[in-house]
Amino acid sequence: MNKTILITGGAGFIGSHVVRLFVNSYPNYHIFNLDALTYAGNLENLSDIENKPNYTFIKGDINSDEFVISIFKKHKFDSVIHLAAESHVDRSIEAPLAFVKTNVIGTMTLLNAFKNTWKGNFNNKLFYHVSTDEVYGTLGKKGLFTETTPYSPNSPYSASKASSDHFVRAYGETYNMPYVITNCSNNYGQNQFPEKLIPLFINNIINNKPLPVYGDGNYTRDWLYVKDHAVAIDLVFHKGKNSETYNIGGFNEWKNIDLIKLLCKQMDIELNRPTGSSEELITYVKDRPGHDLRYAIDASKIKNELGWTPSVTFEEGLKKTINWYLNNKEWLNNVTSGAYQSYYKKQYSN
Ligand code: NAD
Ligand code: DAU
Repeated sequence: MNKTILITGGAGFIGSHVVRLFVNSYPNYHIFNLDALTYAGNLENLSDIENKPNYTFIKGDINSDEFVISIFKKHKFDSVIHLAAESHVDRSIEAPLAFVKTNVIGTMTLLNAFKNTWKGNFNNKLFYHVSTDEVYGTLGKKGLFTETTPYSPNSPYSASKASSDHFVRAYGETYNMPYVITNCSNNYGQNQFPEKLIPLFINNIINNKPLPVYGDGNYTRDWLYVKDHAVAIDLVFHKGKNSETYNIGGFNEWKNIDLIKLLCKQMDIELNRPTGSSEELITYVKDRPGHDLRYAIDASKIKNELGWTPSVTFEEGLKKTINWYLNNKEWLNNVTSGAYQSYYKKQYSN
């Protein structure tokens, strides 16, 4: 079947992997990638597919009602896969309003355009909302997030994502709009902007800069290789049940400090540096306010109902990730010049 799919945020980290997967796997679908190209968006991420006949890039802001309505009028997207967002927790603590604008209002703008385009005639239509496990708040030492865990967001970022999830669900209930939501754990892999833990630390190790560990480093995250997330999105898009939520996770919990030590070991090997030299860069710094202690996903619903499991072990995924950054220093240099420098100074100055 032919489809006309709008993917938002496709020039970002996860979005670029989703766009590539769909463009390459489904030549009969037309993929429109709508992205504002904020600091986190980078068309270099998609240079390998930019000339494919079933791919079109549209530069634009999901916060602009007029613009979003105009592209829906022109292209009549039958499906939306919505990833565009402000995505970094530390930035949300510093400047929360931008998160409300893009993550809440931007999502509303898309929901309205989708609803008003199809006017209740939703046969073979789908609004797919990509969300995060952070909406559930924090876990203690035990337990896992399931799809029925109550929402309890702790940061402006997670509150804005939780709010967007609620609106998607409300549009489903109120207007019978077909939707799915997935809530995924921490992603890592190639093309991630070096403000998030793993690429930031890889970049700092390359440059012999301190590795700023928040608090005592005893915070836990559940890590998933980004290409496995893209495969899960493909599966849920095609086989997920209408109005359902699916949790996606790596079955792969790591305390930050243990992960950082593993990363340091692998970096020493890849850079041919003496064992232990990267670990010497570890520096404990002031904690993140409202820092969630632990995230861990129970992904048994997507596993049992749709047959999805991660394909890459963490050690393999980390090695691939490190090698990608080492082989793409120009990409790293491009994204860490300019505005990144002032962000870094402000974030890590005390
Ligand atoms: P990212 O920050 O790398 O990319 C976000 C993209 O959205 C960028 O290309 C940016 O230019 C674009 N964008 C931002 N504001 C926009 C606007 N107003 N209009 C149009 N485009 C805009 O983010 P990511 O890490 O790839 O995350 C993608 C999605 O997945 C987000 O919705 C995030 O909440 C969710 N998510 C991320 C993770 C993770 O670990 N990174 C985990 C679970 C869920
Ligand atoms: O769980 C999914 C979420 O994962 C996504 O929704 C977010 O978009 C994504 O940014 C990520 O959020 P985190 O806050 O968990 O990721 P981050 O890489 O910022 O931090 C991971 C852990 O490492 C967290 O406990 C904070 C810690 N950290 C992070 C940075 C940037 C440090 O100790 N030092 C740092 O400099």
